[in-house]
Parts: sequence; structure tokens; C-alpha cells
Amino acid sequence: MADKFKRTTITSALPYANGPVHIGHLAGVYVPADIYARYLRLRGEDVIFVGGSDEHGVPVTIRARKEGITTQQVVDRYHKLIKDSFERFGISFDVYSRTTSATHHKVASDFFSKLYSEGKLVEQTSEQFYDEQTGHFLTDRNIKGECPRCHNTDAYGDQCEKCGATLSPEELINPYNAETGNPLVKRKTKHWYLPLDKAQPWLEQWILNEHKEWRPNVYGQCKSWLDGGLKPRAVTRDLEWGIPVPLEGAEGKVLYVWFDAPIGYISNTVELCQQRPELGSWEKWWKDPETRLVHFIGKDNIVFHCIVFPTMLKMHGDYILPDNVPANEFLNLEGNKISTSKNYAVWLNEYLDELPGRQDELRYVLTANAPETKDNDFTWADFQARCNNELVAVYGNFVNRALQLTQKYYDGQVPPCGELNDFDRETLSEFDGIKSRLEALLDNFKFRDAQKEAMNLARIGNKYIADSEPWKVIKTDPERVKTIINISLQLTANLAIAFEPFLPFSSRRLREMLQMDTFSWEQLGSTDLLPAGKQLGKPSLLFSKIEDDVIAAQTKKLEDTLKANMEAEYKVEPVKDNIAFDDFLKLDVRVGTVLECERVPKMKKLLKFLIDDGMQKRTIVSGIAQWYEPEQLKGKQVLFVANLAPREFKNGLVSEGMILSATNWDGSAVVTTTLSDVKPGSQIS
Ligand code: 2FM
Ligand code: ZN
Repeated sequence: MADKFKRTTITSALPYANGPVHIGHLAGVYVPADIYARYLRLRGEDVIFVGGSDEHGVPVTIRARKEGITTQQVVDRYHKLIKDSFERFGISFDVYSRTTSATHHKVASDFFSKLYSEGKLVEQTSEQFYDEQTGHFLTDRNIKGECPRCHNTDAYGDQCEKCGATLSPEELINPYNAETGNPLVKRKTKHWYLPLDKAQPWLEQWILNEHKEWRPNVYGQCKSWLDGGLKPRAVTRDLEWGIPVPLEGAEGKVLYVWFDAPIGYISNTVELCQQRPELGSWEKWWKDPETRLVHFIGKDNIVFHCIVFPTMLKMHGDYILPDNVPANEFLNLEGNKISTSKNYAVWLNEYLDELPGRQDELRYVLTANAPETKDNDFTWADFQARCNNELVAVYGNFVNRALQLTQKYYDGQVPPCGELNDFDRETLSEFDGIKSRLEALLDNFKFRDAQKEAMNLARIGNKYIADSEPWKVIKTDPERVKTIINISLQLTANLAIAFEPFLPFSSRRLREMLQMDTFSWEQLGSTDLLPAGKQLGKPSLLFSKIEDDVIAAQTKKLEDTLKANMEAEYKVEPVKDNIAFDDFLKLDVRVGTVLECERVPKMKKLLKFLIDDGMQKRTIVSGIAQWYEPEQLKGKQVLFVANLAPREFKNGLVSEGMILSATNWDGSAVVTTTLSDVKPGSQIS
């Protein structure tokens, strides 16, 4: 921590209470924030780690309507689920509260009132879409209408999902309420705006000149917002769910969720300081220039944390501004976007139930693959490989060998360290820089590299014990083995400290095995952590292998979701233009019996059929190899076009007709047949 700061306030984005948290949230925000909080605590620094649920906004109300329950029920359910899952996963929040709390309503309301009464907000009336039958103004996403480009009648107020056009509700032809179908009219409404345009000059100075050290993705996004010129932003909405605008004549209006949510960090600190008086006043954590404020967020939240919230804090006065905002990019899942609304995710609560006791495995993989500089992909195969090849085979294996040998040769007592040879010295030299190497990375939010560095220490240990071969040397030079085991044990004790911020569960178990009652970051790099003669605890495995069936079950679950989504989204193709009856009569469709069916070498998609068409045998080639084994079709009757002009394939194969198949919602082909057997050659009419 830079000298000018005495303490750190760490915040992590408040997740919407409209669903459980998933691995994307964890990798992007909560795991790095937790590593940082644990690291600072281990260093003995003054730190608070603030979290909570974001319970306002449109996403929670949409969920409530979908499930047919009240919004309060939705947020109660998900707040509890999220809070419990975080706790089980070892995210070490000092406070995890919620934006529906009475404290938050008061803090956010007062914040707005102060800005308002000091004339810092701009009042503006504009025309917005209104449903006269329900008496509601609508947000962009709740408005549908005809796309002005492709004339899809299902386009949203912000985007047409058919042609991909970005739209504004004004552009839609015949706009209607997406939920009720009611037509919409324009109606005047008054709102309060945060004049970001006025903040532009100091924001430019503060971010572009004074925070060049921010991550390139964060700095770049801010620069592009600033280059585009900031405009005033409405901080109120015409909605029922939210914190009422504390002004007379503002009935039916609430604070915009992005106005109240970041204030939640402050309200939650207020609650924390009430619960733990030893932390002092909440103001110390938000208003003292010697406090360092760090926001952990995902990239979609950058503008709110680097531009909007700092502007609110600055206009309010007295508050400190974030010193850093280490935003991450996104994590994808098996090559697809994670989606709460489409239920495509690895949900934390389900992971904890289905892979019990494996918190550190997920923490490890999410950090090893953290989207710090670019979007990354989580795959179950990679998860299994990293767990088995790194956690089990390197870290776990080394620790287990060191502890088992201590048990076997010395009844679990740390042997003394004798004279060192060159290999010992070389190994020990790796200890020298570990503390400063880790600090340089952790202080700069490079958690991925930092964890790699810790794992490297385990690799060194693994190699040391493997190359020293104490199990052989014990027969010829038992004194030497004492030194080997002593050094190995000192290494394991260092690993317990180095891994604590990353893998707190296994680190704790390791410390218990090593009987390390007290430990601190300062001890890292010491070769004297376990004194000779110390009695160690009973060893047990730190990690166990992830078996194939576990991975297969998880992969199948995701595939099933993808399929279900495809099926739900499937739309029947519109019927083609009418044709004349005579044109239909030109088509000669018949029944044929499949005599032979085989794959075509070097043509992966094709199946070659020999068909009895009632008069002769004919060859038909069909592109359905992906969907059938040839044996499944042999002997079956199929429908085929008998009078299609022969077609020649690249390899010289000629197809004399076409087998008719239905294309299913998932793109698969299903061959058509008759309800009962008929004579080959029968015509279809
Ligand atoms: O993007 C989100 O999930 C928001 N709920 C994050 C809010 S962060 C903070 F402002 F509370
Ligand atoms: Zn369109």
C-alpha cells in the first residue's frame, strides 16, 4: 500500500438479486476482491471488504413477473441464496447487506436530497412512452414494435434481435407495451439529471492525467467516454419499485438503480460500523483522504464506477474517490456467453452442492484463468486438468510426501536441518524473493500471475523432494534425510501462507497439519517457520482427483440447457409463396426401400443409399451422416424425389434423386417415411 494511505475500503459490485451468482461473477469480481482483502488482512493492514445485494432496478421486477411472485419475494429469496453461497465459498466480506435495508433507503435518500437542495441536479421534462391502460411509463426494454429496417414486429426499444439493428424506442413503428401488448403514447414526464457535462474537465484531469496506472481496459473505456463528451444522465425513473424520490410532487418516481446501488457501498459500511464499533466511524472509511478506496467490478460497470459514482461523490463533497478500479473482462462458458436469463451458467449454489468441499478447486481455476486482460473461457475439461495436474499432482503431492515422510521417519516431529549442499542452497534461494515477487503482483492486482508464482514454489518443492530421493538416501545417509525433510517442511509452511489469499480452505487445513497456530505475511520467505522437534498433526490429502463422470455430468447439464434454449427460441419458418397446382404435379415423390446405406470416404456429411424404387436400384446421396448411423436406415422405407435431375458430387459420385428429411428445431435431420409399409415405387400425392 502506498505510504499516503493508512487503510483500505474494498468494495465489490453488488449483484442483482434476480438470480444466483455464477462463475462469471466470481471470476470477474468476487474471487479477486477476496484475494485482495485476505492479502491485506494477512499483512496486518486495516481493511474492510464491503458487499451486498442490488435489489432495485428492472431485472428484479422482470424476474418477479416471470415467476408470478412479488418483487419483495424475489429479492428475499435471492439475497439469502447469494449471501449463503458467498459464505460457503469463503468470500470473506466484512458486511453483506442489501439495498432494501432501512439504512440504505435513508442514506440514498439523504444523498439525493443534499444534491438536490444544493442545486447540483438539473430538472428536465421530456416526452417518454406511456401505456394509458396500465398508467405506466416504460423502459426501452419493455417497449416493442415494428423494426424500421426489417419490419420484424417483435423488435425491442433498444434493439431488433432479428436484424441486429440498434434502435431507440422513437424509431419503432407502432410501439406497444411488450408485456400487455397495449399501444403506447408519448407523455411528458419530469426527471432529475446528474450534469456529467459539468464534471468533464475535472474527470479528464483526474482519470486521464492522474490515473494512468489504471488497467488499460479501464483507462481506455474512460477515455472513450470522455472523448465522446459526457451528457447529463437521469438519476430518477417512473417506476414503482425502488427508493421513492424524496421530493414533493415526485410521486410514482424512484431513484434510478444506478444512482442508489453504489451508495449501497456506503450504507453497508454504515451498518458494518454500527455492528463493529472497533472499526470507528463509517466516515473514516469514506471521507478520510488517508483511506484508499478500491472498487472490484466487471467491465460492464466501468462507466458507473469511474465516471458516474465519482461525480456523485465529488458533487456531494467530503468523500474520497476510488484510487483504483481493477475491472475484469468477461468469462465465457464452454465457448458461449454466460446468461442469467437463459439459465446458461455454472451457478455457485449448485456447484457447492454438486461438488461439495471443492471450493478451492474452483477458486484456483477461476484465478488461473481470470479474465484480467481479455475475455476468457471456462471449460470443465480445463477445470479437471488444472485440478488434477496442478493442485493434486504438484501442490497436494508435494505436501503429502513431506508430511508422510515426517510421520514415517520421525513420528511426525520436525527433524533438525543439518549442513546444506548446493541443491539445498539453490532451492532455498527461491525463498528469498517470494515475498517481494508476490507483493509486486498482488499490489498491482495481477492475481493470476501471483497465484502462478505461489504454485511455482510448490513445483520447486515437488522437484526438490523428487530429486533428493529421501526414501533411497535413508538407507545410506539418514542424517542427510533430516535436512531434506526439514527444508521440505519449511517449504510447505511457506506454501500455507502464500496460498492463504487464494485457497483459504486448503491453506487452513495445511496449517492445522503443520500446527501453525499463528502466521503472518511477514514470515513469508523464512526458512525457519517450523522449529526442529515441533510435533506436527496427522497428515491427510489436501486435494483429490476430479473423476471423469463428474465432468461428464456437468458438461451434459450445460448441453441440455443449450438444447432447451434452442427449442424455446425455435421459430417456424414462414410459408413460401403459393405455387400453381400444375407446378406441384411436376414433382414426383415416391416411396423407396433402403437396400444399402454407407458413409462416403472423405465426405463427412454424406451417406450413400442404394434404393429399391420399385423398378430398379438407384443411388441417392444425402447430407445427413451427422444424424444417422447407416445401420439405422438399412431396410427402412423412405420418401424421395424421383424426378430430380441427377447431381454429381466432387468425387464423381452421382445422386439420382433426393431423400426427404424434416429439419428439426436443433438443426438435426429426421428422415421421413410412411405410417405402414407400401410397395416400393408408390407415388406420394
Ligand atoms: O451489474 C450489476 O450486476 C449491478 N447490480 C452492479 C451494481 S454495482 C454497485 F454499483 F452497486
Ligand atoms: Zn430489424
